[in-house]
Parts: sequence; C-alpha cells; structure tokens
Amino acid sequence: MNILVTGGAGFIGANFVYYILDNYSDDNVICVDALTYAGNMETLSRAMEDKRFTFEKADISDREAIYKIFGRHDIDVVVNFAAESHVDRSIENPELFLRSNILGTQVLMDACLKFNVPRYHQVSTDEVYGDLPLDRPDLFFTEETPIHTSSPYSASKASADLLVQAYHRTYGLPVTISRCSNNYGPYHFPEKMIPLMITRALADESLPVYGTGENVRDWLYVEDHCSAIDLIIRKGRIGEVYNIGGHNERANIDVVKIILRELGKPESLITYVTDRKGHDLRYAIDPTKIHSELGWLPATKFEDGIKKTIKWYLDNRSWWENIISGEYADYYKRMYENRGEAKKQ
Ligand code: NAD
Ligand code: TYD
Repeated sequence: MNILVTGGAGFIGANFVYYILDNYSDDNVICVDALTYAGNMETLSRAMEDKRFTFEKADISDREAIYKIFGRHDIDVVVNFAAESHVDRSIENPELFLRSNILGTQVLMDACLKFNVPRYHQVSTDEVYGDLPLDRPDLFFTEETPIHTSSPYSASKASADLLVQAYHRTYGLPVTISRCSNNYGPYHFPEKMIPLMITRALADESLPVYGTGENVRDWLYVEDHCSAIDLIIRKGRIGEVYNIGGHNERANIDVVKIILRELGKPESLITYVTDRKGHDLRYAIDPTKIHSELGWLPATKFEDGIKKTIKWYLDNRSWWENIISGEYADYYKRMYENRGEAKKQ
C-alpha cells in the first residue's frame, strides 16, 4: 500500500510512520507536513534514510500544493493527523485551528475525490464529546455520545468530523474516523502535560498543575493508538466511527506525582496555577466497538508506558532541549508567567 500520512513530523503521526515502516515491508509512506512549530524533521531522521519513505513539505489547507502532491503519487489511503493540537493555544488564537483542522480536512477530501483515492481516514479525538462529570465513574464516551465541544480545538476537530461524514454521505467518499483518548510516549511535544512535567522536573523547575489537579484524562500509549488506526484502515467498516482508549483514567495530579516518584524528585515542585478556561473535567472512552469488531486491545499498561516514556526523554535529551531552548521559551513565558497561583492543596 501507498499510505499518505499528514502531520507525520508531529507526535502521533511520526509514531505512526515508524509503526508502518517497521511492521509492513511492502508499504510505502508519503508524509505531508507543513512543519509548524510542532513539526520536527529530527523526529523523522530514521525514516528519511528509508527508501519507502518520501517527505513532502506542504500545508494541508493549500489546495494547489496538495493537488500537486496527490498528482505525483499513487495513493491507496490518506491518514490525516495534521492539525493544530494544543487546547491552550486554541484558546489564545482559534483562527489557525479552523484553517488547518477544518479547511485542511476539506482540501484533503477534495483531493481524494479528484484523484480517486479509495480511502480517507480522519484522526479525531475524544474531546469532540465534551466532558463527563467527576462524580459519575459509570459514564463513558461511546460512538453514540452526542458531539458537545468545549474548546476551539475540540470544536474544530468536531467540525472536521461532521464534514468527513458529510463527504461520505454526499459524495460517497470512503471514510473512517477514529476518536482516541489522550496519548503519551516518545516525540510528544513538551507543551503537553506529560512531557512538560517530565522535562521541567528534570530541570528542577516548578510543575504548573491547572486548578485543583483533579481533572481526569484517559491515557493511552501512542503505539497502541497507531495499532488501532492500522487495524481500522485495513479492516474497519467504511463510514464508521471507532473510539480508541484503554480504560486508563487518571487524575492529573496523580500522573504528576508518578512522574516525580519515577524521577526521584520532590512533590514540592508542584505549583497549582489558575485553571484553563472551559477546562474539561473528565474524559473516558468506551472501546467496546473496536474491541468486538476488530479485536483491538492496548498492549502497554500505564505503569510500563510511563516508565518507557520517561526513559525516552532521559535518553533523548537533545531532541527536547532543542525545542525548549527555541521559540518554545517565549510560548512558556506567555502562557504561564501571568497565570498566578491557584488555591493551595
Ligand atoms: P502534534 O501537534 O504533535 O503534531 C501535529 C503535526 O501536524 C505537526 O507535525 C505539524 O507540523 C503538522 N501540521 C499542523 N498543521 C498543519 C497543516 N495545516 N498542514 C500540514 N501539516 C500541519 O499533534 P499530535 O498530538 O501528534 O496529534 C496528531 C493528531 O491526533 C491531531 O489530529 C490530533 O487532533 C489527534 N489526537 C491527538 C491526541 C493526543 O493526545 N495528542 C489524542 C487524540 C487525537
Ligand atoms: P494536555 O496535555 O494539554 O491535553 P488535553 O488538554 O488535550 O487533555 O493536558 C492534559 C491535562 O493536563 C489537562 O487536564 C490540562 C492539564 N495540564 C496542567 O495541569 N498543566 C499544564 O501545564 C498543562 C499543559 C496541562
């Protein structure tokens, strides 16, 4: 198969590129990425040495550039990871999210129709379902849960999902959508909670926990997300949505404490800061459908995944040190400097 992967220089996209190259010797990967602040060619250095891998720098919302790329390659499936992905940045500047996440999706699907690409897969998120209350551990997101978004990021992802379903119904585009819970693992950009806490703890810097730290996220090791998408593009039913998650809910503060314990750092580094606006309380996926239809199960337990992830950040210091010493330093200052402390625990 020739798989066109967008956003392959980012966290999950890059892990997916390696998942395919390492598991399927007959598959070729064409990676399209605009190389925004979140895209990193260093992440793809091993792939660049592989003859089965081609890199194309382009913005998915640039119709002309995308049509040229589709014209150059014989594509069997498009897997769209490319997106602005950070909730805090979407609160600061929503516009970019609408362009990349919604219009970019439209351009890719138009290209699929124009060039008769037989399959389009949209990588979506559980955040399109909004949040669940903290005091109802019996509730989970299923594929039937109504879309009910909170942040400009989740609203843009939900809009894209609706557009994907419209292209299927109206134009007959063969699509699938996956909605995954929070990922963690290698190449995770240090603006996101887990790598942010690891890299700051290593430097003995304060760890900014939003609000009370009681918000719950459902964490999945990134390779398990890749194996799920791989199954969906090969065996999933056209027109269907599949939730992906491994029933691993954790309060943020507990995750931060695990990271500190693993690194042998004191809990006094924790600082409670002013909460995120519109902060979703709890995400929790019901993965029954992908398990029963496609036999998918996650392979990595959180206890092992978090150790592997911490080891990766210890072994690959130059990867993240290059990031945090650049433009990211201004971002951190802007986002956190005037945040102020939240209530003491
Ligand atoms: P990321 O921010 O690490 O990477 C995004 C990549 O997309 C970067 O390489 C960036 O350069 C590229 N990109 C951004 N806008 C682009 C554009 N207009 N054209 C071309 N390339 C562009 O994001 P991630 O965490 O790897 O997330 C990948 C996808 O998975 C996103 O669609 C996100 O919504 C979804 N998702 C993420 C999570 C998570 O926990 N991180 C969970 C569920 C779903
Ligand atoms: P994040 O990694 O941004 O993912 P998402 O918002 O898409 O779930 O954040 C995960 C959780 O961690 C979320 O509840 C917000 C919280 N958080 C903090 O407490 N401090 C931080 O500095 C960041 C970035 C996130």
